[in-house]
Amino acid sequence: MDLKEKIDPDKLPKHIAIIMDGNGRWAKSRGEMRVFGHQNGVESVRQTSTAAAELGVKFLTLYAFSTENWKRPKCEVDALMNLLVLTLNSELGTLMENNIRLRAIGDLTHLQPGCYSQLMETMEKTSNNNRMDLVLALNYSGRWEIAEAARRIAVEVAAGKLDPESINPDTFKEYLETREIPDPELLIRTSGENRVSNFLLWQIAYSELYFSAKLWPDFRKDDLYEAIIDYQNRERRFGMISEQIKQVTDK
Ligand code: FPP
Repeated sequence: MDLKEKIDPDKLPKHIAIIMDGNGRWAKSRGEMRVFGHQNGVESVRQTSTAAAELGVKFLTLYAFSTENWKRPKCEVDALMNLLVLTLNSELGTLMENNIRLRAIGDLTHLQPGCYSQLMETMEKTSNNNRMDLVLALNYSGRWEIAEAARRIAVEVAAGKLDPESINPDTFKEYLETREIPDPELLIRTSGENRVSNFLLWQIAYSELYFSAKLWPDFRKDDLYEAIIDYQNRERRFGMISEQIKQVTDK
């Protein structure tokens, strides 16, 4: 029985988020420049996106560039931006063939102009696709997103458009980048690092965390299947006790 067949389609996570990590180490271990790792990470993006779409996952969010990544050497930042432009262009066919809609979260207007326009173009071209949303987190961090939501709320309160008493977790969510996207049930991080690194801090409150030892350029469809099988074998209690969960699922 192959791994894919072990996945229960009725217990599929609707949203999977991935911290793609280990590109630099992958390249270094081969005596290559870090950018070589990023270039090889594109195949992992392709495999993971198509595998998720084929399974019936509705949202796949990839941490492609954090607000902290600007601190990397300029040549690496430039190479990553160039790679993004090239990949968005070259992968349009894959997105269309697999009926995947491209979306993005983050402070997009501060991306390099060429990257921003290519992103907008690819999002527009794929906007009618409806099998899965591939969400790229670009110039994104969880703390930035939460602070930005608080700022937008403050502006509305100051303008008399929002009653402060009406603010609760449900209304707060409406000001997040992910307001139209359900929270991820599963968060995967590659490369053996056990951290969440400022990714989707609000949204992962109840996510199952899965850490893979694989470096991102080595991550393939079977690695995604393994993560989903592991997730499906866990009991998600949301603050309740085991017996209560069984009552809810037996109904
Ligand atoms: C982390 O590895 C990876 C990134 C910061 C960038 C991810 C980018 C890609 C996979 C390229 C293309 C992406 C898309 C969506 C088209 P790292 O550099 O931090 O690795 P290290 O921890 O080994 O140094």
